[in-house]
Amino acid sequence: MTTLKNDLLLRALRREKVERPPVWMMRQAGRYLPDYLKLKEKYDFFTRVQTPELACAITLQPVDQVGVDAAIIFSDILVIPQAMGMEVLMEEGKGPSLPEVIQTQKDIDALRTDGAEESLKYVFDALSLTKRELNGKVPLIGFAGAPWTILCYMIEGKGSKTWDKAKQFAYTEPRLAHRLLQKITDITVHYLKAQVKAGADTVQVFDSWAGSLSPADFKTFAQPYLFQIADALKETAPVILFPKGSWYALKDLAESNASGIGIDWTISPKMAREFTGNKITLQGNFDPAKLLAPVSEIKKAVKKMIDDFGMQNYIANLGHGITPNVPVDHAKAFVEAVKEYEPSVVSSQW
Ligand code: CP3
Repeated sequence: MTTLKNDLLLRALRREKVERPPVWMMRQAGRYLPDYLKLKEKYDFFTRVQTPELACAITLQPVDQVGVDAAIIFSDILVIPQAMGMEVLMEEGKGPSLPEVIQTQKDIDALRTDGAEESLKYVFDALSLTKRELNGKVPLIGFAGAPWTILCYMIEGKGSKTWDKAKQFAYTEPRLAHRLLQKITDITVHYLKAQVKAGADTVQVFDSWAGSLSPADFKTFAQPYLFQIADALKETAPVILFPKGSWYALKDLAESNASGIGIDWTISPKMAREFTGNKITLQGNFDPAKLLAPVSEIKKAVKKMIDDFGMQNYIANLGHGITPNVPVDHAKAFVEAVKEYEPSVVSSQW
């Protein structure tokens, strides 16, 4: 096994002392880099995802071109519904669509939970190839969608602002919702363990639509499954949970077996530290839209963000994915600002 030349991310997740915080950006692979857009013209989305050489090339682009401290494998959270037997289409400009949504217990019972290893072999091949190509340069992050977020797509069949059909299902048929959430959890645990076996150094669980739930409903339909995943992976690799919008759950999440929690920009770094009692590494929380501000503003805001989180037990990142309209120079400025960070005389106590 090659030793890592830059293991800042893993040290921050283990709560070890670092010289500076590690930095990466959610959705850094794909979306905004010109070299990605060239590949996008030639190959459709699932060809890019399912061809290990293409997925590997896309994964390495931000490491080589933007200087981030970690690579995240190019794939998608919706490969899990596919592996469970659902059709998933990705239409340009429209986002994902699942033509045959889940409605009944029969639909849920027909979903497979044993197929991950075989049908997602291309993800593991992409991870092994990328791990080899990285040659220890930076750690490799694997990922999956959280059960609640995957349920949202399975029930709605497409993106939504309110996720009201998914919520209607959960509130009307809670027994079926839990049955479905458990099946997604089971396959996700296998999938994440297999990603680690294939070369992922850590895994992130994206609960992108957790914030659509009230605190009580998050505790019912999202949190138990996030905890199960963190418990199951405890001996395997560090887990980062990213329940976007669920600031109210931070206190509980700090007690989980995860190693890190992703924070979005709707909560201040100081408050996030207060809620988590500095028990767990925090990741985030730069507003991705602020990457559209002038470079001087980006640099100032990054410094303030690190001052407020404190530079230990911290991973600099965005509060959600980078958007396609961000100029590459601005993404680079974000990364540089973290690398240039010098603590202020009066910085956070954390
Ligand atoms: O972080 C990375 O760069 C790795 C790759 C990655 C993709 N999707 C590639 C992708 C990751 C981590 C994801 C996760 C994902 N996919 C999430 C959770 C993270 C988040 O942003 O909340 C969600 C909700 C999805 C579902 C999904 N996939 C949507 C809503 C879309 C369409 C619009 C968009 O760009 O988000 C996709 C397509 C998709 N997945 C693209 C990329 C680069 C864009 C399509 C393209 O480039 O052809």
